[in-house]
Amino acid sequence: MSILITGLDQIITFKKSNAPLRGSDMRDINIIKSGAILIDGGKIAAIGKEREIKKHKLAKKAKHIKMRGVALPGFVDSHTHAIFAEPRLRDFSLRVSGASYQEIKASGGGIISSINAVRKQSPAEMEKQLLERSKKFLECGTTTAEVKTGYGLDFKSEIKMLQVLKKAGQKTALEMPATLLSAHSVPPEFKGNTKKYLEFIIAEILPFVAKKKLAAFVDIFCEKGYFSAQESLEYLLEAKKYGLIGKIHAEQLSSYGGIAAGACAYAISADHCDYANRADIEVAKQTEMILTLLPASNFYLGISKYPNARKMIDSGAAVALATDFNPGTSPCWNMQEVLSMAAINMSMTCEESIVASTINGAYALNMGDKTGSLEVGKQADMAIFDAKDYREISYYFGGNLNLMTIKKGKIVYKKMR
Ligand code: NIG
Ligand code: FE
Repeated sequence: MSILITGLDQIITFKKSNAPLRGSDMRDINIIKSGAILIDGGKIAAIGKEREIKKHKLAKKAKHIKMRGVALPGFVDSHTHAIFAEPRLRDFSLRVSGASYQEIKASGGGIISSINAVRKQSPAEMEKQLLERSKKFLECGTTTAEVKTGYGLDFKSEIKMLQVLKKAGQKTALEMPATLLSAHSVPPEFKGNTKKYLEFIIAEILPFVAKKKLAAFVDIFCEKGYFSAQESLEYLLEAKKYGLIGKIHAEQLSSYGGIAAGACAYAISADHCDYANRADIEVAKQTEMILTLLPASNFYLGISKYPNARKMIDSGAAVALATDFNPGTSPCWNMQEVLSMAAINMSMTCEESIVASTINGAYALNMGDKTGSLEVGKQADMAIFDAKDYREISYYFGGNLNLMTIKKGKIVYKKMR
């Protein structure tokens, strides 16, 4: 079925989209006023001024939706840990009384405290929970969300997470590319033997995941107390042999060499980057690697230091934004909130934030040719917000301005009025 949307206050498009946008290109957006979008066969068939689009041969037969609002590409949330069995409320109480992420880990909380419930959870319950969460993402205008493993940390549970993800992906409109994050932390049964644990993942998990095509990406947490830069580099190169594209949690809590390791292993993105230094930013500028910033985790952890987005963008590195939705550092699925945080805490302009959370997020998932921008031939993935000006999406915070989400040409969420 074709759909024609008219009456919109603004439609946001980009001047370039054949590669992640960098520098001033991140601010160079088009604002179409009195615009219309024509959707056919799940893709965008035409976009532009209403009077032009209405003349299109498909326009007459299309279902006509007339609505006010601002149309953006659906958010591409390129970094989430959306499969976890339980919120970490004990960690939260400790956090509220002033404990740091590292102190919470030392007291028995942190990543490892999530594994028991995940290991016990039935696939059916895990799927039900993920599907409920996928609705929340769609409701807030996210049309693609990467999902990582990393709370199972043994063969059975990590594979269970990936199988559930695959199955759930067939039941929700939210597109959910999978990332294997078995290298998230060393599970207790390995008694701190990082080397042995990585050897186990390489020998047992990677070949199975690759053979069954259960994930497109592989990730590792490069940080003091988790995995070193050298281990991360070697691990990502091993995974690359299996065709898995690398990602790396890098420089989140300290300057630890993760960005350089990621770049040497051809990682598609380095994520967090709070402690990225000048050399790290130069590395990102010289390579294809995207720096994915996750300000909701800084907010939640009460860290006053945020990634230096200004330096990164002004130096010409490609920057993306994502929620990092997870039970330990970012219980937030709403990308609109992330845009507000990017503006207030990282001085990113509204235009840069939109680019970072759509087209650059899509490139961080190797999907820049399919989604992330509103242009003819691409998947009709979009969100229409209750606003007259796109800047309102960053300006208002704590709510959900999204009125309608369209994924591959289908209306998958509509706000009740
Ligand atoms: O991106 N830093 C590593 N991983 C997550 C946190 C995971 C957790 O604490 O459960 C993050 O912040
Ligand atoms: Fe993360």
